[in-house]
Amino acid sequence: VGKKITTIEGLSAKGDHPLQKAWIAEQVPQCGYCQSGQIMQAASLLARNANPTKEEVVAHMDGNLCRCMTYSRIQKAIMRAASEMRTASNAATERRAT
Ligand code: FES
Repeated sequence: VGKKITTIEGLSAKGDHPLQKAWIAEQVPQCGYCQSGQIMQAASLLARNANPTKEEVVAHMDGNLCRCMTYSRIQKAIMRAASEMRTASNAATERRAT
């Protein structure tokens, strides 16, 4: 009650959030059962930390279990999305400065 909830559908109306694109690029899902939760957990990390280390990613994602063992692809996708989000943010900053 009184809290805001964002689901995977709310992350991006077009399904083009950097995490969603990175998930596709890294071909993360196997059965797909856990993937919405994995992406939303990753989104909460990147909302607070735009440049996480691999150790921070692992620590933040700890507790989100994947029976298909896609952990290494999840980590790669998060690092890819973080990099793309930083690049987009830097480009926006440069456009505003000119
Ligand atoms: S992709 Fe199957 S449980 Fe994670």
